[in-house]
Order: sequence, then structure tokens, then C-alpha cells
Amino acid sequence: MGCLCSSKINSTHKVATRSATFCSTRDYTETSFISSLTTRSFNTEYKLLKTAIGSGLVGEIRLCRQFSTSKVFAVKVVSKAALPLDFAKKRAIENQVKIIQKVGHPGILGFSDFFEDSCNYYLVMDYISGGDLYCKLENQGKFSEKAAAKVMKQVFSALAYMHSNNIVHRDLKLENVLIEEHEGHMLVKLIDFDTTTTLKKGEKLKGTSGTIYYMAPEVINGSYTEKCDIWSAGVILFSLLTQNFPFGGDSDKAIMRNIASGKMDYSILQQHKASSELLQFLKSLLNINPEKRLSASEAFNHPWILKHCKIPKPLILIKTHDKTFKNSLSQALKLWAIKNVVPTKELSFYHTMFVNIDKNFDGVLSKEELIEYFGQSESEKIDKIIELADWNNNGVLEYHEFLSAFIDERILKKYAGMMLEVLDKDKSGKVSISDLILFLEYQLEGCFGDFDNKDLGKEISYEDIVDIITG
Ligand SMILES: Nc1ncnc2c1ncn2[C@@H]1O[C@H](COP(=O)(O)OP(=O)(O)O)[C@@H](O)[C@H]1O
Ligand SMILES: [Mg+2]
Repeated sequence: MGCLCSSKINSTHKVATRSATFCSTRDYTETSFISSLTTRSFNTEYKLLKTAIGSGLVGEIRLCRQFSTSKVFAVKVVSKAALPLDFAKKRAIENQVKIIQKVGHPGILGFSDFFEDSCNYYLVMDYISGGDLYCKLENQGKFSEKAAAKVMKQVFSALAYMHSNNIVHRDLKLENVLIEEHEGHMLVKLIDFDTTTTLKKGEKLKGTSGTIYYMAPEVINGSYTEKCDIWSAGVILFSLLTQNFPFGGDSDKAIMRNIASGKMDYSILQQHKASSELLQFLKSLLNINPEKRLSASEAFNHPWILKHCKIPKPLILIKTHDKTFKNSLSQALKLWAIKNVVPTKELSFYHTMFVNIDKNFDGVLSKEELIEYFGQSESEKIDKIIELADWNNNGVLEYHEFLSAFIDERILKKYAGMMLEVLDKDKSGKVSISDLILFLEYQLEGCFGDFDNKDLGKEISYEDIVDIITG
């Protein structure tokens, strides 16, 4: 594939291959292993499907089906045989699980389960059917400024969360950003934490890590901070708009030289009639001085992003109920269904809404943030919503709690049949209330209320499920 680079600085390079050089000279200084490995096994809980949806440096990504729910997940299967004597890679896998298990942000695709047997590691995660940005760019061509801004806003929201939790991704690139579009709403999730690490404030990371085209100059020099992710995000943005990398070259050395020079070819952007705000934004993301480079939260609030991503006026009416056991059952069923039955793409609208409400990027919604979005007049209703939806009683709403409170009941209704299918183990068309409660308490890891003994034996059907979730 031809290179559209400028003859002057010979830097840009067509986005044409997924197999750019990956470099890592990391030191593995952290010591603890995953301590909580249990005796559960992947093969008794999931069926590995034939379809491979991706392959990479340390494993293959396959689809799998969970026996208990029939839900399809993606799983990264890392063969131990492929890394027999490489202790460092084993540590890298365990390290990423340890870091990512603590993460709770809708823009970061964490692992829903982790298994290890004598042959493989299995990192189970939600399946995002829309694929990655690389494929999107290849299949649909260049992004408009508006479409690119919508993607980047979500990327910066996830990065702001990671960086404020002292986590650095270190391999941000088109292939590691998944995207799902549904009814005009977009959902973006960062993946691939093979090289993700933690970094204490004031410290620097050493060595080289990342994929050549996306590497920040200071990474090439071997001493860097979380700002390396912002540079990579700048490269992603440039690529989305032009289908070229900002810094190319005929060899890895030449690419590195161009990156170090920081001389980006803006003429290609001018050919694309890029706006002045965009040019200014790109310059402040691809600034070779990491101190002067924007932070993730500054990038999220940059005028170019704000111009293209108007925050929608609340379209949702707040409904409240008095807190009763029936509501707890309804809440439990919704929480479970949202996590296990409703496909991720149905949640695109709410995903965007969550990202806009979470002003301080801490991955949870506070009462103040909800009031800022819905308005002071809704304050009382918001109190009630938090009281009902705050399942773990920590005073704020995590993503799934937020969804359970705001999701359109029509979406839940659409999946009520599937819910019953999963719940109705003996295929009688009904489930007893006591079994339903036991199941939900097991799934949600906690008890959620007392119930009148005489009702426990009652059996519920499809109509009752609809009643419960819309009640
Ligand atoms: N949860 C997922 N849903 C859909 N596609 C995925 C998922 N996880 C990974 N992929 C696809 O597989 C590719 C490789 O996965 P990744 O975790 O980045 O592995 P590697 O470390 O080998 O790059 C991704 O670029 C993406 O196309
Ligand atoms: Mg990857």
C-alpha cells in the first residue's frame, strides 16, 4: 500500500498494517502473584467456540459461551506452551489481571473472569461486537471531525480515570480501542492491558514499551510518565482523520527519528480541511515535551471536543419508588440482567450519558454530579434514586447501578424472554420465587431482603418477570 507521506519531512505513513513493531524492555519488579486462584475451571463454566476474533502477541481472542447464562463472551487464551521459560510474560499476565480487576469504569473493558489451568490462561471479558477502531477505519474510511471527537472524548474519559488511579496503559493504539455503535450512540472501550502498569506520582517508568507508530518520544528515550498515553491518543486521532500515521518511515529507526523530531506533517490535515481548533488540539496532544502536553482531563474538556460533542439535555425522566422488598427484587433482577443478558450495544446511549455526567472521572456518579446534569429541581428524586439503586450502599452510583436506575424498561422487556430462559433451568416455563432469590443472591454476592414465607413457593412466569422488571 502506498505511502502518502510528504516528501519534505517524509514522516506520515499510511495506516496499512496491524503488525507494527511492538517493543518492550520492561523490568518486572512487582513481586506478588494472583493469590486468589481458585479450583474453578474454564472448561466447566464456558464452552470455547471456534471463532477467533483476534490474535496478538500473547494469545488468541476467541468467543466462548457461559453454560449458566448462555451469554457469549470474548476470552483471551494465552497458551503456556508459547511462553514456556518466559517468566516475565507469566508475570505480565498475572500483573494485568491484578491491576484491571480493581478498575471500574465503563470505558475500560475489564475481565469478568480469570482462569488458569496447566495449559492456558483464560481472560474472560464482555464481547464487543462492533470490533476495534483499526477495522472500523479500514472498513468505513476516514472519520469526520465530529465522529472522531465522539470517540476521542470517551478515550480521554477512560484515560483520565486510569491516570487518576495511577495506571498507565502504555499500548494505546487503534487495535486496542473497541467501539460499538447503536442507534446513533457510540460506546468506546479500551482493551489490552498486557503492558499496563502502575506509576506513583513523581516517579518515572523506564525502558521502552508500546507499538512503534504510537510511541511517544520520551518512551523511545526510556524515561516517561502517563503522558505517553496522551501522545498515543494524539496518534489515534490523527489516524482516524487521515488514515495516516503522523510519524512514519521506511524502518523502525526512521520512524523513531521522525517521532523524536516531533515534526508532524500538517499539510495532510490541511488537505482534509482540518479546522483550526483541531490543529491546535493535535499540536497540544503531540507536543514532544510531556510537561506541556495536555492531561487526559484537559483533553476531555478541550474546545474542539466540546464543539463536536454537545452534552445532550437529559432525555430521561426520573422515576422513583418507595424502597420495598419488591423493589429490591426488581433492582436485583435488573442488575443481573444488565450484566448478564442485555447485549452491550443496547447500552450505548447510557454509556455516553454516564461519561458526560462523571465530571471528576472517578468512575462513579455522586449526588452532586447527578444534580448538575438533571438540575437542582430533581434533587429530591435523585436522593430517592440513589437510595434505591445504590446496591452496595456506598453513597454513589457505579455504572451498573446507574444503568439499573435509568435504563428504559422497553429494553429490559425485550430481553425478558431470554432472562426466563436462563433462569428456568428445568424448562417448565416457570421459576419459583425462592429459586430466583437464591440465584440472584449468588450472582450478586449478597442477600437483599426478607420475604414473606408464603410467597417463597410461588412460581413466576414470563409475565411476572416483565412485571418485576418494570415494577
Ligand atoms: N472483548 C472483545 N470483544 C471484541 N473483540 C475483541 C475483544 N478483545 C479483543 N478483541 C479483538 O482482538 C484483538 C486482540 O486483542 P488484544 O487484547 O488487544 O490482544 P493482544 O495483546 O494480542 O493485542 C483486538 O485488537 C480486537 O480486535
Ligand atoms: Mg492489542
